[in-house]
Parts: sequence; C-alpha cells; structure tokens
Amino acid sequence: MASEIRSEMENDIERVLLTEEQLRQRVKELGAQISADYVGRDPVLISVLRGSFVFMADLARQIQPYCRVDFMAVSSYGSGTSSSGQVNIQKDLTEPIEGKDIIVVEDILDSGNTLYYLMQVLQARNPASIRLATLLDKPERRAKPIKSDYVGFTVPDEFVVGYGLDYNERYRNLPYIGVLKPRVYEK
Ligand code: IMP
Ligand code: MG
Repeated sequence: MASEIRSEMENDIERVLLTEEQLRQRVKELGAQISADYVGRDPVLISVLRGSFVFMADLARQIQPYCRVDFMAVSSYGSGTSSSGQVNIQKDLTEPIEGKDIIVVEDILDSGNTLYYLMQVLQARNPASIRLATLLDKPERRAKPIKSDYVGFTVPDEFVVGYGLDYNERYRNLPYIGVLKPRVYEK
C-alpha cells in the first residue's frame, strides 16, 4: 500500500532535478562551511516553516560547533506557484535574538519577497549578525535585492517540489527534488 501511494505521488514528477545523493553531499558541504565560519559562536539556526524543515534537519546535523534551533512560520504564496508579495508571520520565534548570531534557513530564494521582508523583521530585533542559508536559489525570478550567504544549488525557473518543498502542501515528503508535471498545477 505504502509503495502504491508513493508511486502515485511520483507519477506527478516530470523529472528528478536533484537526487538524494546530490542533496546529501551538498548539505554536508554547506554544514562544513558554516561550521568553519561559526567556530565558538553558538549561532541560532532559524528554520522558516514549513518548506525548510527537511533541509534544516539535515543541515543542523552537519554543523559541528554548538548551535541552537528556533522556528518561524510565514506565508506568502497561498496555493499558487508564484509569490503574492504579501507576507504574514503565522508563528514567531520562541526566544529573543538580540545579540545572537542568526542563520536564517530557507528552502528556496525565489522572488525574494518573503525573505526580504523577514530579514528586515529579524534585523530590527538587533541580532549580533544575520546570515541566510537557502538550499535553492532561483535568481531569474528575483524581484527584491537580496542574496543568500550559503546556497545549496542554483536552479532554473521551474516549479520544483520535494525535500520539504510543496505544491498545495503535497510532495514535501519526496526524498529528492523534482520538477512537477505542468498538468498537476494546470488542472
Ligand atoms: P519568494 O517570496 O518568491 O522568494 O518565495 C518564497 C517561498 O515560495 C519559498 O519559501 C517556497 O515556500 C515558495 N516557493 C518558491 N519557489 C518554489 C518552487 O519552485 N517550489 C515550491 N515552493 C516554492
Ligand atoms: Mg511553500
């Protein structure tokens, strides 16, 4: 039964863009880079829910120095495939970040609307430093002046799902990143 459900979901995937192995390897490299940059600093990893939960879990386990995790939920998309520019904080952080070294962990930097707004909100709370780690970067679609400090992969302008990324809340549990068949969002 479980495999039938999986194959129905996988039927909606046109092609695999990033395999599990590619993701594992790259996340390991990012973790090593962050570990080297934050020796002795006890950074707070802020996962932007829900899309970054898989990346966050894997990245955090590749970070060697002490670090903390906290979570924030924002919405910007509704159920479509392009950003509305309207961002709502649905769940705020548990701990204050004043004086802390912050690393915001996101699934994808697309138009930048969400993160541009979020980084301003967090900056206003006076952290000691703030950096951005995004698994994916889709620079062709950028509408706001924002860059990621740690980028996993630069991807083309196609709607991708899996490894945390959704379409209509589905596909987050795919272990790889794939391009959705257009029929899925055209119907
Ligand atoms: P932005 O505000 O346009 O940069 O979009 C940010 C959010 O949109 C991301 O955190 C994702 O949740 C979602 N998003 C953007 N592109 C994709 C995609 O290709 N697949 C799935 N979600 C996406
Ligand atoms: Mg999403």
